Amino acid sequence: MLYEAIQFLTTPCSSAARKLGYLSQAIALEARYKRCRFGWSLHLKNSQELIREAIAQCPGQRKAVVLGSGLLLDIPIEDLSADFEQVDLIDIVHLRAARRRVQKFHNVHLIETDITGVVQELARLKGTMTGYTDAGPPEKSWPQPYCDDQLFEGADLVISANILSQLPLLPEEYLTSLGCENSKAIDKYGRSIINHHLKLLKHLDCMVCFIADVERCILSKPKPSKNENLLYGVKPLIAAHSWMWNIAPAPEVDRMTHVHHRVVGGIIPPGKE
Ligand SMILES: C[S@@+](CC[C@H](N)C(=O)[O-])C[C@H]1O[C@@H](n2cnc3c(N)ncnc32)[C@H](O)[C@@H]1O
Repeated sequence: MLYEAIQFLTTPCSSAARKLGYLSQAIALEARYKRCRFGWSLHLKNSQELIREAIAQCPGQRKAVVLGSGLLLDIPIEDLSADFEQVDLIDIVHLRAARRRVQKFHNVHLIETDITGVVQELARLKGTMTGYTDAGPPEKSWPQPYCDDQLFEGADLVISANILSQLPLLPEEYLTSLGCENSKAIDKYGRSIINHHLKLLKHLDCMVCFIADVERCILSKPKPSKNENLLYGVKPLIAAHSWMWNIAPAPEVDRMTHVHHRVVGGIIPPGKE
């Protein structure tokens, strides 16, 4: 608890990202990983293997960009550093352990930025609440997703590392916390964030390695299992590989419940949409 509180106070993170909950979420993710390490191991191994395959197939060795580097659990950082002149690790927040781990690699850079481009503007919406009804800020004031192309300049390999399903979650939660009750509009907004990330990856002129969780399966005996699409029904970029991530093994939720995510992924060579 104390360690988590210290991380919260000392981790460099933009005030908008703090306000929307990205720092707390990263700290909670790290704590969950410590509790569920065994259940996560196959997923992390599969993700790393797919990234290694992309590294081996990649025709250029100048720059690799990782989107959603986070805790660096699924990123084979040694291999990336050895194979590329420059490695940019992009996430809205990097905790102490990730910062420490990259210190020894002269060519690995941590970049803290929001790849949806909506976080800062959403955080400002609160100040404009006066005069609004309980419905929260109007839909037309919700920022549209945007990502700076410069992040990908000179890249030979871009890795979208288990980030896609996460992108709409905190923006949606924040809108709800501001009083937005139109769940259809919020879903549409979440879908636009997902589509924006997929479109961005599709238009890159370099190799892309894509990994994303797409479906939640809740197994809670004796109830029948429940499945939920994590991408609002949007088709993932590629699903050449697929595996299950035992994200919350019992007793994480309760003694009878296991939560699994279906993860898909693949490698798209340069020039192929
Ligand atoms: C499930 S984690 C990915 C796991 C990560 N690859 C690892 O090995 O630890 C999702 C990551 O997406 C990041 N993220 C979520 N929304 C983001 C945004 N708008 N911009 C940048 N990163 C974001 C989170 O901070 C988190 O680190």
